[in-house]
Amino acid sequence: MQISNFMQTEHRRCDETFSKAEQAASNGNFTEAFTFFEDFMVDTLKHFDKEEEILFPAFEEATGSSEGPTQMMRHEHNQVRNLLEQLAEAIKNEDKERFFSVADTLMVLLQQHNMKEEQMLYAMCDRALGTNAEEIVEKMRIL
Ligand SMILES: [Fe+2]
Ligand SMILES: [Fe+2]
Repeated sequence: MQISNFMQTEHRRCDETFSKAEQAASNGNFTEAFTFFEDFMVDTLKHFDKEEEILFPAFEEATGSSEGPTQMMRHEHNQVRNLLEQLAEAIKNEDKERFFSVADTLMVLLQQHNMKEEQMLYAMCDRALGTNAEEIVEKMRIL
């Protein structure tokens, strides 16, 4: 399997879970919203770990550069991590208004981030890591 396909599938799965959390929150069902949000948060953080611990280092090694796109992606991950904490707090406090204001910020940031990865970085990874792709996908699958 190509790296880009594997990673895009993970992005889509996170999107779907998050929209379920939003739906539940908008219905005022915070217990359900929290369950979906927790799944989303766990999957998203895990996905970031796969990138930061496996994919980015492999790409950096293959291209000999750690100051290019991967650096910016790591920075955006940290921004998302911060927003996830704020969202968890908002759900815990059953603060719907706060939840949606942070959720909007998070979604814009994450959509742009994912688009950059899908249109640029993952395509570069497919090219740079070609023959090692299977092994890298397998490592990410079992992390
Ligand atoms: Fe990422
Ligand atoms: Fe990603």
